[in-house]
Amino acid sequence: MTDKNKQLYAYTRTYGCRANVADGERIDGILAEMGYGFVNSPDGADLILLNTCAVRESAETRVFGNIGALVHRKRLNPDLIVAVCGCMVQRKHTAEKLCGTFPFIDLVFGTHAIHKLPELLSEVISEKRRVTDITAYADEIVEGLPIRRGSALKADVPVMYGCDNFCSYCVVPYVRGRERSRKPDDVLTEVGGLVKSGVKEITLLGQNVNSYGKEHGVTFAELLREIDKTEGEFRVAYMTSHPKDFSRELTDVIAKSGKISRQLHLPAQSGSDRVLALMNRGYTSGQYGEIIERAREKIPGLSVTTDIIVGFPGETREDFEQTLAFIRKIGFDSAYTFIYSKREGTKAAELPDRITAEEKSVRFNELLRVLEDTCGRAYGRFVGSTLRVLCEGKGRTGKRAYTGKSAQGVIVDFDSDRNATGEFVNVKIDAALKWAVLGSVQK
Ligand code: 5AD
Ligand code: SF4
Repeated sequence: MTDKNKQLYAYTRTYGCRANVADGERIDGILAEMGYGFVNSPDGADLILLNTCAVRESAETRVFGNIGALVHRKRLNPDLIVAVCGCMVQRKHTAEKLCGTFPFIDLVFGTHAIHKLPELLSEVISEKRRVTDITAYADEIVEGLPIRRGSALKADVPVMYGCDNFCSYCVVPYVRGRERSRKPDDVLTEVGGLVKSGVKEITLLGQNVNSYGKEHGVTFAELLREIDKTEGEFRVAYMTSHPKDFSRELTDVIAKSGKISRQLHLPAQSGSDRVLALMNRGYTSGQYGEIIERAREKIPGLSVTTDIIVGFPGETREDFEQTLAFIRKIGFDSAYTFIYSKREGTKAAELPDRITAEEKSVRFNELLRVLEDTCGRAYGRFVGSTLRVLCEGKGRTGKRAYTGKSAQGVIVDFDSDRNATGEFVNVKIDAALKWAVLGSVQK
């Protein structure tokens, strides 16, 4: 870092969920404002920044491996700056392990220190020593950070940060702190600006969007209703909802709106009431079923997706079979599946009756088979109907020319006599695959 006029390049990589990706876009925005250019691989980078995830052990192991692989780069180029941020470093013992294992890491900063990145980097450069900034909690939300978005068509807009639920398996409340919501005006201004700039799909993000707005006296349903009034053709999706807070008001707002996505991602985690209680989820499988039944009644064609964890401590064969039966009964459009991963510091880490890795893997494979069977069937309901699709480019299935997503979040591959990328088109559906539907543009 001797030549002040030299163009510097950053290689940044984000792991984990959409909230972390949104943080990554702000980190990139700050770096761009500082004058950094971007490279797609660590080769030629002056700064390598890894924005990490802590939700499962596998995510952490990957980061350890990837940082380990940087040793030789640092030896070849002592001016290279290696920075690690995100959820992993919010966990004290993990941050200590990282720093102890890899003495060459120059900068470690937590999820609450993103806005301080310019000062932290200049401290690293001027003092030539490791700089660390990990505060456990953030009270206020820092607005107005520059954002370098990954797409011109789609944008994620965080509406709240943190989580107060303390599901017994989950590390998020420990790493992301208490729930904090952005002011409705700040969200509406950002959404309005995005729509004006041509963005067609906006996803509102929060660990539990249904508890949005408590400190502002506004509900998530009210926020959605306001966003729905924004002029222009666009779509607004949201994630993640929590079944315990999913209100009737929200279902009604979605039913009446023109712009809110017809996809409900509602993580169930398990179909056994005993396991749900051990997970501290705050609902039963029956209550979950009632939410879905009512939502499907009010919102025709609604797509329902979920998250399922197998191998939670104490999950018996019978509990697991209840989960399979529950999946068959609900008939999800798709599901993200996870093998339980023990996270130190969470309540579940202390529970007895741990499931062996073999048993977890047997159950996981069984779960996938049931999902393959049931999810494939769910898409059949779209055959014969017309879906409004946001065209995203070339076909994904190899069977039709173009691809896009419907308001239900369903992948639609379709034929058309022109490339309508970036526009909404009406597609008549004529076939259903397991993970997509096929059709042709209706003129
Ligand atoms: N082990 C396995 N899966 C987990 N998830 C969260 N914590 C864990 C864990 N310790 C899953 C949940 C959540 C999704 C984002 O990740 O299903 O909804
Ligand atoms: Fe997202 Fe949770 Fe991973 Fe953090 S730990 S990146 S909040 S999934």
